[in-house]
Amino acid sequence: MFVHKEQLAYLLDPADYLSPEVARAEVERLFRAAWHPVALTTDFRADGDYRTFDLCGHPVLLRRHEGQLHAYLNVCSHRHCQLTDQPQGHDPRLVCQYHGWEYAAGGQVAKVPDGGCFKPFDRENARLQCFTVDTCGELVFVRIAPEGPGLADHLGEFHARVDAAFAPPYRCNWTYAREFACNWKIPVENTVETYHLPFIHPTTLGGFGMIPEEAQAHWLEDRSTTLVYSLDPASEPVKKQRQVSRQLGGPPCHDQYIHHHVFPNLVFTFSDLFTYAQVYLPTGPTTSRTLAWMFSLEGEKRGPIARIIAHMVARHGVKANSAIQREDASVFEAQQRGIAASPFKGCIGTREERIWAFHGYLKRALAPG
Ligand code: FES
Ligand SMILES: [Fe+2]
Repeated sequence: MFVHKEQLAYLLDPADYLSPEVARAEVERLFRAAWHPVALTTDFRADGDYRTFDLCGHPVLLRRHEGQLHAYLNVCSHRHCQLTDQPQGHDPRLVCQYHGWEYAAGGQVAKVPDGGCFKPFDRENARLQCFTVDTCGELVFVRIAPEGPGLADHLGEFHARVDAAFAPPYRCNWTYAREFACNWKIPVENTVETYHLPFIHPTTLGGFGMIPEEAQAHWLEDRSTTLVYSLDPASEPVKKQRQVSRQLGGPPCHDQYIHHHVFPNLVFTFSDLFTYAQVYLPTGPTTSRTLAWMFSLEGEKRGPIARIIAHMVARHGVKANSAIQREDASVFEAQQRGIAASPFKGCIGTREERIWAFHGYLKRALAPG
């Protein structure tokens, strides 16, 4: 059931989707202290493997050293060059591409070619800036702010569930990255409402239609919202799902589709065969980027039949999710353009009440003072 019985006020203004000042305040006050999934532990097979990416305007280098992951601001303390501009690679040394300054895993300068030119050397101010890294399941999270709540605190009561759902017996079969020409809140709002399903996903999710209110529950919390959709155990798709899970040696089925939004920008989906993590990151006031990882059940069984079934399940998930992401993205830019010209206040239906809770959180978190 929905929490509200009547339509809700649209709490944000068009400027919240357009203004450079709002975008700056969001990064400072929401994104710096939040945890953002940026990669998988399995992306770093050996010490020296690294990846680089932008995180809310911060160039980041994430690298494995002695089995541990470390994140740095990808800027050399000598003359500001990015240590590397490769998106990923392997290097046994953490070394700047320009003049070869070398850094230790803790960020300290370890070697300066022709070091005598830099006497007296200010070793402390020359260290790389480090970011905090943590993992949950196989997901690797980075926090920009040096201080702030830990990852377990950020994920709240879903921490254990995420830990279990993004690791064996589930396995990542699809990673997805896409840039959007729209404010980051537009795709977040899309993902937390089911109102658009029959219209935007007529074939991919058409079977769902308008899910009856009685079959679902919304939970609106201060720092998150959740949709729990209880599937009919007597229905053919659910019976089939249970059979597949049995054939793969999966954990007990819960016959639920759970969609959880951790404010501001993190979304998880849990079902018996698929789990899904997606993050939305601002790259400017009217541009954004998403990263997503889909895991599918591989199970405990390793026989040839189980392997074929697991492969088919994964293939089905990749095909469906690629199409769903494409369909959703088809309206984002049109909504952004509309917001820029809109004379309306907008409104939010009860089926969309998770957006209202998200807007309420934004208003509270960005309130002056
Ligand atoms: S800028 Fe990095 S070594 Fe010179
Ligand atoms: Fe959608």
